[in-house]
Amino acid sequence: MSWFDLKGRSLISELDWTREEYDIAMKVTDQMKGLYYSSKPHPYLEYKTFAMLFFAGSTRTRMSFETAMTQLGGHSQFMNPNTMRLSLEDKPGAGETVKDTAKAMARFCDGIGIRLLDDEIKYYGHGDEVMRKFAEHAEVPIINMASDINHPCQSLTDIYTMREKLGDVKGKKIVITWAYTPWVRGRCSVQGTALISAMYGMDVVVANPPEFDLDPNVIKQCHDLASNSCGSFEIVHDMDRALDGATVVFPRNWFTGKRYDIGKEEELMLAQKYQDWRYTAEQQKKLCAPGYLLQCMPIDRGHEADPEVCDNDLSWIYDQAENRLHTQKAILTLTMGGRV
Ligand code: CP
Repeated sequence: MSWFDLKGRSLISELDWTREEYDIAMKVTDQMKGLYYSSKPHPYLEYKTFAMLFFAGSTRTRMSFETAMTQLGGHSQFMNPNTMRLSLEDKPGAGETVKDTAKAMARFCDGIGIRLLDDEIKYYGHGDEVMRKFAEHAEVPIINMASDINHPCQSLTDIYTMREKLGDVKGKKIVITWAYTPWVRGRCSVQGTALISAMYGMDVVVANPPEFDLDPNVIKQCHDLASNSCGSFEIVHDMDRALDGATVVFPRNWFTGKRYDIGKEEELMLAQKYQDWRYTAEQQKKLCAPGYLLQCMPIDRGHEADPEVCDNDLSWIYDQAENRLHTQKAILTLTMGGRV
């Protein structure tokens, strides 16, 4: 395995890269962060362009990728699908196909990032399918900037942040707990964090009300990864029991497996039964382990977690957000052929 093996590679699911490949990405991230803090120029992607296709909104992902390309000496191009010719319907009369869009875009750029999830898709798995179709036809790497299933750039950031704060994470307990918010949220961040934490041998506990299970395929992948890494993976339906002994806690809302059949209103009605699912300051104080807050943001303060939990010394949320910049500089450099 060499660093150059990642050149030209896409990153759509956490499972598209091996643990060794993530190790390399984290070594490059260390270098990127060091260069950034020592104010040394690092134009590893000079004259290269990264196109960013955002079907859904973003604060961190858009800013971190744009800043990453600036700092690497290249350019990022923000593409609003509403101003393009593309249609995801892929049928005569609907608009330009994914195939033609992907092939044409690849003539102008060196990598394409895509965010497609939430209200912009028709069924669970649709976002992932479109990204894979782009990867089939574009002759440049496709980087998932959040789909309905996965969020690998966030996941790399999460494991990087945990290792930065804790050192070796093997055997450390991370609790990924469902939390109430009136926002109906996707599963990509929680599934991604579960996958990468299982890959790195953590003791991963997912806590959720019975209706709010994660994707069964992802659950299987987590079990397999945990078994290979000598970590563990468990699902429980009791938040307080799950939190016992947690080094790291990730409280976040996610939708049920029926989200695209029953619609958002019914989803919200189901969620309202569990308004007491929130990571509180009281819960955090009672833990025998620190219960650091890992939350990819945006976070619904007062619903998903108490404001005090977001703001105290055990909160990592802003360092975690910043690390998006450094990890994505590594991903862009490695996949788009930069030389470190
Ligand atoms: N965590 C994350 O992806 O944030 P944005 O939705 O703001 O990009």
